[in-house]
Amino acid sequence: MTATAAGAAVNPLRKGLTVDRIADPCNVIFFGATGDLMKRMLMPAMWNLRLQDILPTTFGIVGFSRSGDGDEQFRDDMRKAVDEFSRTGAATEPLWSDFAKHLAFVQGSFDDAKAFDALREQLEKNDRDLGTGGNRLFYLSTPPSVFAQIVRQLDAAKLGPRDNAAGWTRIIIEKPFGTDLDSARALETEVAKVFDEKQVYRIDHYLGKEPVQDIMALRFANVIFEPVWNRRYVDSVQITAAETVGVEQRGGYYDNAGALRDMIQNHVLNLLALVAMEPPVSADADSIRDEKYKVLRAVRPIERTRVTLDTARGQYDAGAINGKPVPAYRDEPDVRPDSNTETYAAVKFWIDNWRWADVPFYVRSGKRLAHKMSEIAITFRSLPHRLFGDAGDTIGNNVLVLKIQPDEGVSLRFNAKVPGPKMHLRSVSMDFNYGTGFGVVSAPAYERLIGDAMRGDATLFTRWDAVETAWRIVMPILERWQDATAEEFPNYAAGSQGPQSSERMLAMDGREWRKI
Ligand code: BG6
Repeated sequence: MTATAAGAAVNPLRKGLTVDRIADPCNVIFFGATGDLMKRMLMPAMWNLRLQDILPTTFGIVGFSRSGDGDEQFRDDMRKAVDEFSRTGAATEPLWSDFAKHLAFVQGSFDDAKAFDALREQLEKNDRDLGTGGNRLFYLSTPPSVFAQIVRQLDAAKLGPRDNAAGWTRIIIEKPFGTDLDSARALETEVAKVFDEKQVYRIDHYLGKEPVQDIMALRFANVIFEPVWNRRYVDSVQITAAETVGVEQRGGYYDNAGALRDMIQNHVLNLLALVAMEPPVSADADSIRDEKYKVLRAVRPIERTRVTLDTARGQYDAGAINGKPVPAYRDEPDVRPDSNTETYAAVKFWIDNWRWADVPFYVRSGKRLAHKMSEIAITFRSLPHRLFGDAGDTIGNNVLVLKIQPDEGVSLRFNAKVPGPKMHLRSVSMDFNYGTGFGVVSAPAYERLIGDAMRGDATLFTRWDAVETAWRIVMPILERWQDATAEEFPNYAAGSQGPQSSERMLAMDGREWRKI
């Protein structure tokens, strides 16, 4: 049995599997290094990559931020972040002390060319002292308003790929990539002046979640699903990304975004693309991304006149989550007291291609709902002819549920005979759970994604053509919602299933949402 850097034993259920490829020696440079995402997710991810031996021994981590105070302070803060947020518990010695030697900090504002010169010097020093070989992965985890400025500054400071003959240069860009179609295009124009598409890693952390990656395994590593994965057998698809949290400390950002921009344009449309895409010709990044792009292109743009019929929006009122009272959205910090921003969005999409013609894809996402639950439910058509069961027996449609969180797994609902002398039927379910099935807890998405970017694997990142198409899909809804006064907000209680209008949207089609 092999041991990792932390000395942990390797899970026997993974015995015989090839180990993940170690990333190239490189520097990872985090812009926004004193922010919340860095502390909660990014630094713990780097630490765990080290524990798993995915991070090479020759690496450098450079934090860049407006606030902050030197290497020592940065190292102390990062240790605290790891101690508090790492999934593997507090950092251990002597590994942390060794790890911390690879951490450096550059303080500066994003409009200060000198700070970028200092960054270049630090990276050159790391190449000499740590053996990072000129490879650079920039990570933009700042507010989106400064993404373009940082890209320009990198170019001006000769930190772009054109000026780096020694190694590779890549950039990870956090979401949101733009706030509408025009701003996304404007940002892309700036990015493309400096980086080639192959060097740009637009992050959507949903793609790094294990069960999301498993959608492809389920579909294309099994023969039994693909023959029924089409309009002949599928009645409808429901995609849900429900949260119990409110806007937390991000009211300022969220109040200008709303659920459609924050969740549907990226995470939910990515899920839709993975469920609906054709089998790719191979498993390489572009073959998969080509197929996802084709699906998005086939999504029918919603006509303005249909927006009120095919969408629903809501905003949460005060209510209770797990028995604890929580405030209304309009009373959250940094939210306008008369805000009409939606915290819930539901949309009915049609995919105009041979596979999916006439199959509705209902998607929804919202904050402060009854439970945290992200899943994709594929409901199959009803029986063509009923042989068994009394009139009182409910024969449900078969439903395949891909559970993304919190219970990661797959469940299939089918009808079975109730034991006894009569032919009574009931719907039952067959469940697979990743945790118990494989005896491991899935690694957080950021770990997987940063590791992939260091290895140069862009499969789980969103290509520009898909980002642009996703904006095109949501634009008619955004525009219509902007023009038309919202229905009376708030319109759903925190802790509920969401607004009535959403229930009505499905009821018009004779269907119901699955319970959150
Ligand atoms: C982020 C959104 O992209 O995803 C947040 O900006 C949301 O508003 C979060 O809370 C949800 O992620 P997860 O992994 O908790 O489902």
